[in-house]
Amino acid sequence: KSGRLVVIVGPMYSGKTSELLSYVEIYDLGKKKFKAFKPLIDNRYEDTYIVSHNKTKVNAIPISKPEEILKNIDGDEKAIFIDEIQFINENLKDVVITLRKNGVDVYCSGLDLTFKNNVFPTTSVLMSYADEVIKKKAVCHECGEYTGTISYKIVEDEKGEIDVGGFEKYIAVCRDCYTKLNKKK
Ligand code: ADP
Ligand code: TMP
Ligand code: MG
Ligand code: ZN
Repeated sequence: KSGRLVVIVGPMYSGKTSELLSYVEIYDLGKKKFKAFKPLIDNRYEDTYIVSHNKTKVNAIPISKPEEILKNIDGDEKAIFIDEIQFINENLKDVVITLRKNGVDVYCSGLDLTFKNNVFPTTSVLMSYADEVIKKKAVCHECGEYTGTISYKIVEDEKGEIDVGGFEKYIAVCRDCYTKLNKKK
């Protein structure tokens, strides 16, 4: 029987990692075997954990290429969890589809959009192949409404669209506040 692919997307602080961890708990409570992975680039808190902004965490294997997921599994896992998929190359799709075909449930989470309002390709592709897409919202940092759908970068630098960080660099905002903030610049 095929597994299920669930993809959790949204802006920063929308609870993507927390939602992923809530599914980890379901397999954990059911004493089902699972493994969690995250890209090596995301070293904000600790290399071998997936950590949410409110500091709950689970052990995770750091990877730099999607193929490393297949190398690191035993074959009897019921579920695989991957956070920050926007930082993994698009071949992640092939790995995830193989796992699903082999009966493994795969839960992925990551940013759908960069702070420049461009798509993160790996997230887009995985959303298309998903059995379920969960789109989360954040509280808009500007107007306080629960309509935040995009991340806005509050510091000026030349680092480009891949730039690891947290509250010191990014806020989550709604569409109207995003437009206003970009006009002010
Ligand atoms: P993500 O992985 O999407 O960045 P996390 O699951 O790590 O999100 O963190 C979500 C938590 O961040 C929330 O439960 C809340 O405690 C906190 N938080 C901080 N700022 C905001 C915000 N603007 N909107 C919603 N939650 C926020
Ligand atoms: P988060 O979704 O769990 O908050 O983590 C998002 C990570 O992605 C964080 O390290 C900041 C980084 N990031 C980028 O590299 N580019 C972007 O455009 C945005 C919005 C975030
Ligand atoms: Mg996260
Ligand atoms: Zn707003």
